[in-house]
Amino acid sequence: MNKKKETKQFYDAIAERSFKEWLDNQALMPTLKKFMENLPPDPMVLDLGCGIGGESKRLVNLGAQVIGVDFSRNSLEYAERYVPEAEFFCVDILKMKFENCYFDGILEAGTLFHFEEDEQNKILRNIMNILKPEGIFLSYYPEGEFEGMQELEVSGKKYRRYARTMKKKDWINQVMKHGFKRYTEYDFNVGTFTCLLFYR
Ligand SMILES: C[S@@+](CC[C@H](N)C(=O)[O-])C[C@H]1O[C@@H](n2cnc3c(N)ncnc32)[C@H](O)[C@@H]1O
Repeated sequence: MNKKKETKQFYDAIAERSFKEWLDNQALMPTLKKFMENLPPDPMVLDLGCGIGGESKRLVNLGAQVIGVDFSRNSLEYAERYVPEAEFFCVDILKMKFENCYFDGILEAGTLFHFEEDEQNKILRNIMNILKPEGIFLSYYPEGEFEGMQELEVSGKKYRRYARTMKKKDWINQVMKHGFKRYTEYDFNVGTFTCLLFYR
């Protein structure tokens, strides 16, 4: 089985657990508020790899119009049921298509580390195109030095997902080389994740 298929199967299997853990989890709220402070009123926001829609829901509650994309059908079933104000598409992020300059803000909360470097660069180019000229991109990326398949257990069964962690400075450099003007780092204390806001 290929990496993508395995990763998708893992997220389909873990959907119910993620829903219980994340729908009402406020861990990202302080940084999401800061993200929203940098956006115009009623901003159009894309939640990349929205999963069960926990962050989409918080963004809606903070006043955003949200579109979420994810390839895990099981996760999206929760998102569609519990965040009816947002619109969701079941699609591979590498294949998603939106009009240029469509979004005020784009969020990736622990999603882009599931892609190889060339795939990340393809997505980052797309992000630059679909963001408005003054748009912003919020990224929660795990620090580390691991690249490969991670084995994880869900309800007693073993699954694998592809992961690519890296040093914070390397992720910043990789994103910035796509033409963002500047970035800000937010204090963030969830696992090994860093929280970075990039300004187009
Ligand atoms: C760690 S979870 C984060 C979920 C959500 N952002 C959150 O904060 O709860 C990563 C998400 O990325 C999605 N994902 C991974 N690779 C994807 C791909 N190629 N296309 C679409 N979604 C993908 C997974 O299905 C999963 O929902």
